[in-house]
This record gives sequence, structure tokens and C-alpha cells, in this order.
Amino acid sequence: MKQLHKQSTVNHRRDEEIPLGLGPASPYSPKTFKHPRSLPRSLNYLLKEQRLLFILVGILIGSTFFILQPTLSRLGPSEPNSSASIIPRSLSTSHNGQASAHYPRTLGKVGRVPAGIGRRRSRIVVTGGAGFVGSHLVDKLLDRGDDVIVIDNFFTGRKENLVHRFGDPRFELIRHDVVEPILLEVDQIYHLACPASPVHYKYNPVKTIKTNVMGTLNMLGLAKRIGARFLLTSTSEVYGDPLEHPQKETYWGNVNPIGERSCYDEGKRTAETLTMDYHRGAGVEVRIARIFNTYGPRMCLDDGRVVSNFVAQAIRKEPLTVYGDGKQTRSFQYVSDLVDGLVALMESEHVGPFNMGNPGEFTMLELAEVVKETIDSSATIEFRPNTADDPHMRKPDISKAKELLNWEPKISLREGLPRMVGDFRNRILNEDEGKGL
Ligand SMILES: NC(=O)c1ccc[n+]([C@@H]2O[C@H](COP(=O)([O-])OP(=O)(O)OC[C@H]3O[C@@H](n4cnc5c(N)ncnc54)[C@H](O)[C@@H]3O)[C@@H](O)[C@H]2O)c1
Repeated sequence: MKQLHKQSTVNHRRDEEIPLGLGPASPYSPKTFKHPRSLPRSLNYLLKEQRLLFILVGILIGSTFFILQPTLSRLGPSEPNSSASIIPRSLSTSHNGQASAHYPRTLGKVGRVPAGIGRRRSRIVVTGGAGFVGSHLVDKLLDRGDDVIVIDNFFTGRKENLVHRFGDPRFELIRHDVVEPILLEVDQIYHLACPASPVHYKYNPVKTIKTNVMGTLNMLGLAKRIGARFLLTSTSEVYGDPLEHPQKETYWGNVNPIGERSCYDEGKRTAETLTMDYHRGAGVEVRIARIFNTYGPRMCLDDGRVVSNFVAQAIRKEPLTVYGDGKQTRSFQYVSDLVDGLVALMESEHVGPFNMGNPGEFTMLELAEVVKETIDSSATIEFRPNTADDPHMRKPDISKAKELLNWEPKISLREGLPRMVGDFRNRILNEDEGKGL
């Protein structure tokens, strides 16, 4: 009986091993199905029904997960803001009295993403994103794959600067005045909203200072509430009519607090103060850029800024107006250089402030000559009395940004000017068409 049972079990196992119709009696019975008796049973078991293959595939998937897991968790959704609250931040004050927060290298957002794995896309607000600099910044952020929300009241900005992005699902445009609070969920805030040219900021000085103070307060409040990183676009105007040349970030400036430009100069100085106070007092991650004269396509045509003035005048065949004796100096930075600098600063581990400008220094008369060379050599120059509080010299010292952000401008004035001429020509032509000329 026992033997019979044994026999039937063996037969049953054999049935499992040998496919139907290919029994031992079959002339087609393949030899490979008869596993050699000499192999140990466990090995025999492994070799059957592709079990070994499944085990190997399992090991492969498991090891891939464990290799990638640390990287993926660093790129996880909670990372950008949680780093602010979980990891201690050492706030140090350098010898020159300028604060700079240092984050552990591993937390820095630069160069952490291994090749082959895309960076996590961020949600970013750009206030003043319909303006000249803002619209170029929006282009760069969208091009690298981020979600961008623009907040603008269109005081000096134009929808035309962003119209080419309207079909992009990662882009949103909100008509809003930053003087009023707003609640959004984002990772980063680039705060640019503020009229930037003298014509515009002097138009309603009280509104300008309100934008700088209340607008900056609202955006810093938002950054604090949602744990976003905040970047302020300040200005070289914080140096006023400088007594130090070139200007380093350590220079405290020579500003008239009651002049016609004070709504802008002092407004931006207050905005810097608020930014640092939110950083020191509330732990908000902040960045400050001090921008020097910037030019490029999409600048307002008639905003009184010297490059746009000269270019528009040369295209319209009008004389180039030089204020004062034309010997006052300025440095001119092409807009794509600035945008690269702003993004490098935002992604860096340094608070700043950082000067962002092109150190190439030109007198107004030299600039007029370059414009003549580029657009119309027959253009004439007309001298007018200088405006109040117009600084005599302006040239950035950018060694701090070079060293800490590895950033410096690449485009010279002679390369950059021709790039804005086409855009200006088109707009001036359309403007003339609009007037029926
Ligand atoms: N372009 C430069 O040479 C330069 C130099 C120094 C600093 N900056 C700074 O860079 C930033 C951008 O300058 P820009 O040259 O692009 O100027 P811009 O005038 O072209 O852009 C400013 C944008 O802010 C918007 N804005 C103004 N007030 C607002 C408000 N209360 N609420 C919402 N939106 C508002 C305007 O409509 C505009 O779109 C400004 O903060 C400016 O101070 C620029």
C-alpha cells in the first residue's frame, strides 16, 4: 500500500514535469525535459518554470530602487520648503557687516541633480513679470520646465511681452497690484514689481514708495507663510550719487532722502531692510540683487532710460538727447546676462546683496557714438540741462558675484545693442502705423 502510494506520487510529479502529449512514450519527447537525476532537488526546482529568471529580475528591480531612492527622496515634493524649517541654518555676519546665510552644501540646490534624472519642477511667482526684465525671466523659467505665475498690474508692463506664452499650460497671468495681499502656493518668489525708470516712478511717487514698501511687505509675508524662497530685485540706485567708485556691496551709499528720486531710491533701500528683517527675524530664505542699468528687447520705448531713448531716437531719425555734459558714466548690461544672474542667485546658498551689472563703463557721449555706429551714423546729438540728483558715475564691482555665484556678464554693449534694434524698429513702425503715418 505504502509502495503504491509512493509510486503514484512519483507519477504525479512526472506529470507536472512533462507536458501533455509528450509523455515518455511519445516519439517527440524532448530530452531536455528530463532533468538529470544528478542535480540537487533545490537546483532542479529553481531551473523549472523560469523561476531563476523571475528571481534575477526581482533582484534587479530591488537594487535599482535602493540605488535611486536617496536621490528621489531629496527631490521629493516636501523638500524646498521643509529645508527651511527642519535643517538649522547658520546665519553669519561677515566682516563688512553684511549678512549671509550659509546652508550645508548638501542642501544647496545647485549641481545636486545627477545626470540622467531631471530636476523637480518648481512653482514660481514673478511679480512684475509683464515688464521688461520680468518677461525675459519668465521665458527662462518656463523654458527650463518650471510652472510660472505672473502677478502684474500693467502699470508699465504689457501683455504683449508675454503673449507668446498664453497657450502654455505651465503659465498663468494674474492682474493684481502687489500693494494688496495675495495668497498663492509656490516654492519661489521673484519680486520685481516696481516701476523702474525715472519717468514712471516719478509719475506717482507716493504709489512708487507704497509699491516698494507695502508690495515688498506683502510678498515677504507670503514667503513666510508658505515657506517660499524670496528674491528682491533692488537697484544700484541704493548707492545714490556714489562717493566710492566702482561700487562694492559694502558701500552704504550717498542718497538724498528728500529728492525727487527718493521714492525709488529710498523705497528700494527700505525694501532691502524689510527683506533682511524677515530673514533675520522670521527665518525667511531671501536673496537680494542690486541691478545696474540693463537694456534689451521689450524695454519701454519712451521711458527716459538712456539706452532706450537713444535707440528709439536714432530709429525715428531724431537727435540723441544728452543731459548735462554727457561725461557722466554708466555701465550697461544685456538683459539675458541679468536673468542668468538672478536665477543663479535664487538657486545659490547666498543671501547677498549682490551687484549685477556689466562693469564695462561708458560716458553718455560714448554710448551715443555706439548707437550711431549701430543704427545711423548720421544721427546728431542735442545737449539738455541735467536732471536733479543724476549720479555722476555708476559702475558695479561684481567680484562678489563672480566668486560666490560664478556669474559674470557675457554680452558686450556692441553685441547687445543690435539685438534690441529689431524689436524697437518693429514697435516704432507699428506705433507709426497706429497713428496713420
Ligand atoms: N531695468 C533696469 O535697468 C533695472 C535697474 C535696476 C533695478 N531694476 C529693477 O528690476 C525690476 C524690473 O524692472 P524693469 O526694468 O523690468 O521695469 P518695468 O517697468 O519694465 O517692469 C516693472 C513691472 O512691474 C509692474 N508693476 C509696477 N508696479 C506694480 C504693482 N504695484 N503691482 C503689480 N505690478 C506692478 C509693472 O506693470 C511692470 O510690469 C524693478 O524692480 C526695478 O526696480 C531694473
